[in-house]
This record gives sequence, C-alpha cells and structure tokens, in this order.
Amino acid sequence: MDPTKFGVSSIPLNHAPYGPITDDKLKGLNQGKVALVTGGARGIGRAISGKLALSGANIAILDLLEHELAESKVLGESFGVKVKTYVVDVTDVDGLRAVLKRVEEDLGPIDILVNNAGVSPGKPQWMESFEDFWRTIEINFKSAMVTTWALLPKLRERKSGVIINIASRAATVDFPFAVGYNSSKAAVARATSTLQEEIELDGLGDGIQMYALHPGGVPTAMSKSEVRMDLLEKYPSLTQHGTDFQALFKDPPELCGATCAYLAAGKAKELRGLYWDCRQDIERVVRYGRERLMKEGKYVLKIDFVEGYKNEP
Ligand SMILES: NC(=O)c1ccc[n+]([C@@H]2O[C@H](COP(=O)([O-])OP(=O)(O)OC[C@H]3O[C@@H](n4cnc5c(N)ncnc54)[C@H](O)[C@@H]3O)[C@@H](O)[C@H]2O)c1
Repeated sequence: MDPTKFGVSSIPLNHAPYGPITDDKLKGLNQGKVALVTGGARGIGRAISGKLALSGANIAILDLLEHELAESKVLGESFGVKVKTYVVDVTDVDGLRAVLKRVEEDLGPIDILVNNAGVSPGKPQWMESFEDFWRTIEINFKSAMVTTWALLPKLRERKSGVIINIASRAATVDFPFAVGYNSSKAAVARATSTLQEEIELDGLGDGIQMYALHPGGVPTAMSKSEVRMDLLEKYPSLTQHGTDFQALFKDPPELCGATCAYLAAGKAKELRGLYWDCRQDIERVVRYGRERLMKEGKYVLKIDFVEGYKNEP
C-alpha cells in the first residue's frame, strides 16, 4: 500500500479510551435513553452496545448472528440496563422497519441510532460478481439510510436524538480490493454531512446530531478477512512500501464504543455532521470551534484542485 495515500500525524493518536471517554467519565451519561445498534453481535458493534449500556442506555441490538447476539446481551445486561436482541438481515427493508417498530414497543422511543453493520469482502472487481458488490453497498449504506429514514422524522418531532454512522478511513482513499466498501463508506460520510446540513437549516442542530466515525484499525473478524495474502502475493506493489497490513489493526473496539457513548450524550456537538477519527483527541478538536472547522472545511469529504482552480458552483 502506498502510504502517501494516507498521512502521518505529528500528534500521537489514541489507541485506547482516553481522558473524557474512560468508563468512569461515561457512567450515567445516557441514563434511561434507548439506543439501537446494528451489527452489534460481535466486534465493534458489541463494544458500542457495551459502552452505551455502561453509560446507562437501554439497548436494542440487531444482527444476523443469534448466538453472538446472546453474548452481547449478557455484556449489556451486566451494566444493569435492559437489552433486547433482534435477528434481522439489515438489507431486508420491510424486516428492518418491522424490527424498529418492535424496538419502540419493547423499549420506548429510540434516542440513539448507531448504524454499524458492515461487510468488507476484500476482493478486486474482477473476482467479485456485481451482485456481491451491490450487497456490500446494501449492507453498508442502504441499511443505514433505511434506519435513518425511519427514525429521523421522529427525532425531528422530538427535536432531539443522535445518529452515528460507522464509516471508515476507506471513505477517504482509493484503497484497492474494496470498490463496494470504499464507495459505501464515502456515501455514508456524505449522507451524514448532507443530512446534518438539512437539520441545521431547520434550526435543530443543537438537539439532533449525526456523525460518521472511523473506529480506528480494529482486529475483528472483518479486518482479519480483509488481508488476503494470496492477493498481496499477486500484487507485490501493494507491499513494496513495507506495509504490514495486520499492524494497521491495533485499536480495541472499545475506543469506538466509548466515543459513541460520548457523542450520544451530546458532548461534542461542535463536530456534528462531520467525519470523526476515533483515535484523535476529541476535546482538542472541539476546542477549534465549529465555525472554524466548517470554514476551513475540516473533517468533511472534499476535493482539491491545482492552484488557481477552486470548486466553483
Ligand atoms: N475493523 C476495522 O478495523 C474497521 C475499520 C473501519 C470501519 N469498520 C467498520 O466497523 C463496523 C463493524 O465492523 P467490525 O470490524 O466489527 O466487523 P465484524 O464483522 O466483526 O462485525 C460486523 C457485524 O455486522 C453484522 N452484519 C453483517 N451483515 C449483516 C446483515 N446483512 N444484517 C445484519 N447484520 C449484519 C455481522 O454479523 C457482524 O456482527 C463495520 O461497519 C465496518 O465497516 C471497521
């Protein structure tokens, strides 16, 4: 992989929950709220459910994996909150809408939505059928829009709520073997910022916030399957810079989980609508102030041209 497609921070990144997002700081922040997490049976989704539970929210966890869902339920309940699990394929629009209704019957109105379910088949275009490519788009992007379309009108009525979309650094680079993944994550980030723009137009931004998160590089079932040694051997140029792919995945899922609990509590509204890398120091960036971040176009997908050309309307 060409490292110049990424960057190197001069400020050290966090690789574990830090300062404002440690367990003792999160406890009680979302007391009595209702949170829904898709893809919460394992990996990052389980950690998100766990930290939201630790922060006091009752949790609805959706996934395909029944056995793993039961384990996430045990983790959530260990914090003394109500946890309900629902087996559903998030690409099934009617099924997903029906589950959202059941969640409201079981737990009450949803305050926090985390669209986390995702897949990354990690194949070049020539190895993948169109149907498989499109399924990635449906899991990673369509499902997040189905839940958003169902919930956002209700949040608008109540003038309050938080939607967190788990995006990825893949939204920002042309990383090979991930056409569906990169495109779906870019779409997630763009939809997040555009929807927030509409929320701002209606003067609701203080009550309703959306975020697109990069969770860091997290060793999970997905990230393990992403690194295909056979393809790295076929395309040695991808490793010519000495990139150790496994070493890119070194962050615990709890870093993202804790960030979600913090954002859900409205602790970093300055960043609403933006793409957030969970490894950065959230208080440091919030101190920049929303006006400056927006004016300078930080934390949002954009395009640059050579000097003299601007992105004209
Ligand atoms: N692991 C990383 O380093 C990393 C980096 C950037 C972004 N992400 C994103 O984080 C999210 C979680 O990924 P993870 O690494 O924990 O992977 P994971 O494979 O451990 O978890 C994904 C979960 O989504 C569920 N899921 C997949 N398809 C589904 C469907 N059709 N219906 C219902 N549930 C479905 C899976 O069953 C699984 O429980 C994904 O959106 C992923 O793109 C992960």
